Amino acid sequence: MRAFFLWMSHNTFLRRLLMGLGFARRAARRFVAGETIDAAIGAIRALNANGIFATVDHLGENVETEAHARRAADDYLAVLDRIGQAEVQSHASLKLTQLGLDIGVEFCRANVARVLCQAQAVGTFIRIDMEASDYTDRTLQVYRDLRAEFGNVGIVIQSYLYRSQDDIAALCAEGANVRLCKGAYQEPPDRAFPNKADVDASYIALTQMLLSAAARAHGAYAAIATHDPKMIAAAKAYAAEHNVPRDRFEFQMLYGIRRDLQQQLAQAGYRMRVYVPYGAEWYPYFMRRLAERPANVWFVLRNLFRG
Ligand code: FDA
Repeated sequence: MRAFFLWMSHNTFLRRLLMGLGFARRAARRFVAGETIDAAIGAIRALNANGIFATVDHLGENVETEAHARRAADDYLAVLDRIGQAEVQSHASLKLTQLGLDIGVEFCRANVARVLCQAQAVGTFIRIDMEASDYTDRTLQVYRDLRAEFGNVGIVIQSYLYRSQDDIAALCAEGANVRLCKGAYQEPPDRAFPNKADVDASYIALTQMLLSAAARAHGAYAAIATHDPKMIAAAKAYAAEHNVPRDRFEFQMLYGIRRDLQQQLAQAGYRMRVYVPYGAEWYPYFMRRLAERPANVWFVLRNLFRG
């Protein structure tokens, strides 16, 4: 099922077909705040009212022309302006392939630098999402180039990749702000753990590296992005045992998923941040969410039969 939905996520025919169907749009709204900046700001305000921070994502990936990539950066400038004006508590997350990584590393770096300048002016932070493993090296390279210039940028590491232990060790020594997730793409067994138990064990080991006294001494910050109660319990237990201050890490979850747990963590005094995607390009993001969990597919089918 996972492989099927991940294949669907980059099938152009199905993309066109499903994006035209009203029920698919409605079902996607479970995971996407809406198509406009206003919808995103509304969702962020509602989260903030419950003591939850946000990171907003203007949906889109794998653009093929410089004009499209520049427009994607302009869209980020617009949403950052609105974050400043509306005085909401939100970072922004972006994908490098949306800002031109397929066109060229240098072009992409310059495009993202524009977004970082604007984020700096507004006083907020930009997280570079991690995409499929063909992009990992280039994503880390762009992140490191930008980090040398800007303080307000962080990166994502995926626990399913074998290489991630080395990447986390290097990033801890650099004092990076790292979001740790399990990984959402279809990866071959020579690059990623095929078994979930190994991905989970890797997740816990990498969380502990990020929260360790040595990493903190270098200035590292951990954003623990998962809906998995076992991962969350392991992070909480390690933090309590090692007296990790609550302002040195946060939990992150996706919009519309485990809202009960988001609220519980915020109420218990943990920093909680929700990833708020918005925009017209919801199709691949929505397919990755369906790939993660059969229950999400039933949710969509129920919507279909309700008409
Ligand atoms: P997993 O899918 O292993 O599920 C474990 C348990 O979590 C389930 O048994 C259930 O209890 C709970 N759970 C999971 N999904 C649920 C749902 N929909 N409803 C209810 N319970 C659920 N990936 C990537 O490759 N690059 C990136 O940059 C990012 N960025 C990112 C940001 C944020 C804030 C999050 C939360 C996630 C990402 N991801 C990502 C996605 C990530 O890699 C992963 O695919 C999903 O988070 C699903 O993995 P989990 O760790 O949530 O648990």
